Amino acid sequence: MKVRVLNGPNLARLDLRSSAIYGDMNFSALQEFILKTAAEVGLEAEVLQSDSETELIHWIHEAADSHTPIVINPAAFTHYSYAIRDALEMVSAPKIEVHLSNTMAREEFRHTSVVSGVVHGTIAGFGPDSYRLALIALKNLVGK
Ligand code: DQA
Repeated sequence: MKVRVLNGPNLARLDLRSSAIYGDMNFSALQEFILKTAAEVGLEAEVLQSDSETELIHWIHEAADSHTPIVINPAAFTHYSYAIRDALEMVSAPKIEVHLSNTMAREEFRHTSVVSGVVHGTIAGFGPDSYRLALIALKNLVGK
């Protein structure tokens, strides 16, 4: 079973972001971690990253059309992209929102997620393990 793992703006530059907040795994190591953990739970992950809202929406549309489950870290788009929310709403397959950091423990603007209401659930605050936990949850949802 395939799963699309989408990552939003600035996540490809994790090595340049605060390691106190995001840990010390760079994006290519995170990508490897996701591919490996997906395989361990019996999923075939396709890991994509874009700084462009348009491109992320296009990938969500493709997943909607092919009924492909999604794990998404929309990064800063989480907090204000109604367009990404609307695109996710059209995905009938299981979809899970993830964040490396615990957004609720950070600045107030990060306490709002405009996408949480259209996904099956949200996992935040566990670093790369947020993706692992999401893949396990997704596998269980797909099996239902
Ligand atoms: C993030 C949290 C967002 O608030 C932030 O804009 C990011 C990363 C996370 O994974 O913790 O870029 O989504």
